[in-house]
Amino acid sequence: MNILILGSGGREHALAWAVLQNPKCDRLVVAPGNAGIAELAECAALDILDGAAVAEWACEESIDFVIVGPEAPLVLGVADTLRDAGLTVLGPSVAAARLEASKAFTKEICAAVGAPTAAHARFDDPDAARAYVADHPLPVVVKADGLAAGKGVTVAETREAAEAALADIFDGAHGTAEVVIEAFLQGEEASFFCLVDGEDVLSLGSAQDHKRVGEGDTGPNTGGMGAYSPAPVMTPEVERRALDEIVRPTMAEMARRGTPMRGVLFVGLMIAEGRPSLVEYNVRFGDPECQCLMMRLGGQALDLMLACAEGRLGEARVRWADDHALCVVMAAEGYPGPYAKGGAIGGLDAVAPDDGTTVFHAGTAMQDGRLVATGGRVLGVTARGETLRTARDRAYAAVDRIDWVDGFCRRDIGWRAL
Ligand code: AMP
Ligand code: GLY
Repeated sequence: MNILILGSGGREHALAWAVLQNPKCDRLVVAPGNAGIAELAECAALDILDGAAVAEWACEESIDFVIVGPEAPLVLGVADTLRDAGLTVLGPSVAAARLEASKAFTKEICAAVGAPTAAHARFDDPDAARAYVADHPLPVVVKADGLAAGKGVTVAETREAAEAALADIFDGAHGTAEVVIEAFLQGEEASFFCLVDGEDVLSLGSAQDHKRVGEGDTGPNTGGMGAYSPAPVMTPEVERRALDEIVRPTMAEMARRGTPMRGVLFVGLMIAEGRPSLVEYNVRFGDPECQCLMMRLGGQALDLMLACAEGRLGEARVRWADDHALCVVMAAEGYPGPYAKGGAIGGLDAVAPDDGTTVFHAGTAMQDGRLVATGGRVLGVTARGETLRTARDRAYAAVDRIDWVDGFCRRDIGWRAL
């Protein structure tokens, strides 16, 4: 098969790494890719937000299967354009991508089927929103309704913080003038991943992200500073409840409305006393959660994703090893604020892949024959092990061999489970 992956982050590097282990893959192209991906696959300079251009290129190159990594092309309808061109695609329609693009829409779907999620109200009028916040119990959660790359959510401990978050949103800081105000959910978070093809749902397992930049989960939110899989809080019983009470009913509701979900469903859960509630849906793999999932799934990931895209999910089975994976993100000093760019990265050759460790690249490029950092999140040092502790120790041993002056990482990835 000729396979095309759209995206350029650590998630797409991990997808490429897994797909290449499957003998069904003859040719792999990643668009646009990055310096790490270029070491193992062809990279094509396509504008992945331009569905027509990607479709034309993919048809000319006899691509058999397209995997869409990030959400941005999905919410623009790139998967629809590719399917209309006759291509086999992993990625939902623009109508199903509303599960990620609109928090208010997901709340409506949950309400229709009684799926547990935080009580909420939605406003486009600043005065009404302020009045609602004024007597809402604290903490209160204020969310810009739209795609905000993890930056549109404020968990406000005080009225002042809630009002500041509202002012920010109504000033247009997140490109939307709609706000969802939610009750605060207590508990422990986990990311649960499923493939969905209409009404068939296949669990791909769980992971836990570390969204805050600082150790002990302090400081501002980021895209994710590290992850591990599986998440112990996601017991078989919690998984069963999440599937029965949240995922299956909401996916059935999407199908009933004529907009079935087809693709990767990222279920953000808050779990308290064994009861999961939905925090959010995304319609793609998480980054860096994907790096851990791909380390654990290996080459079978391609078979599973293809079964999903071809509507054969009902017959697909995951072969699990009893293992753990952990990913440490190395970011550029300053991230998630303004950060240093262009610093040279060395030492990657000293990371031994036979030790169960792989360095997935995110924001990297080759400049004058040197590997340099070009993004905020730059490397995802990922290791597998028989225990979470072994995976963690391997990942940090690799981090310590990497020579990058402007880089930093959290030293406590996995702390909740360990
Ligand atoms: P979201 O973009 O909706 O996933 O929100 C980003 C993060 O904010 C989540 O991962 C949670 O850590 C936190 N969060 C969002 N909604 C709630 C809620 N209702 N209660 C507690 N924490 C929340
Ligand atoms: N790691 C969180 C996300 O991908 O949204």
